[in-house]
Amino acid sequence: MVSGAEDSRTQAPVWVFGYGSLIWRPDFPYLDRRPATLAGWARRFWQGSHDHRGVPDAPGRVVTLVPAPEETCIGMAYRIEHTVFDHLDYREKNGYERVAVSLTLDDADVVAGAVYIAPIGNHAFLGDAPIEEMARQIRRSAGPSGENVDYLVELADALRGLGAHDAHVFALEAAVLAR
Ligand code: BEZ
Repeated sequence: MVSGAEDSRTQAPVWVFGYGSLIWRPDFPYLDRRPATLAGWARRFWQGSHDHRGVPDAPGRVVTLVPAPEETCIGMAYRIEHTVFDHLDYREKNGYERVAVSLTLDDADVVAGAVYIAPIGNHAFLGDAPIEEMARQIRRSAGPSGENVDYLVELADALRGLGAHDAHVFALEAAVLAR
């Protein structure tokens, strides 16, 4: 048996911050769930998706977080057992890394947590592009998890449900839906 804190079966539950599909479709068991914010980061459709909303020859676009000292990202925090990371680490394997952060829960409690971030320059990183170009890519992309458009619209709906205004997501949604 692994000693002390290295054994995930003996570690205390921890918070994980969802800012993409984890907001509306957590496919893992959790002990608690609360709206939360993460300061200093902005959500952007800058990560290529070869395994969920696109395929290797035609990647879709999904969200990652980029450093933004003046911004605060609104999402959903889940309190999970450490063993759930085995599932999440696998699900988010395409360029994402698990990063330790401080989260602010909806009651203003600040807690230690984790978030999956696909860093700038990772092998699947696409970066910024003109909004119409990103919208075209999202419109035509699909992968094993479904249509890229559905991912964008479901994210925008989930953010409206949280009362969050995310100018980047809403502008992209408007561009995708405008025909
Ligand atoms: C999320 O929904 O928080 C999430 C987004 C991208 C990768 C992993 C998780």
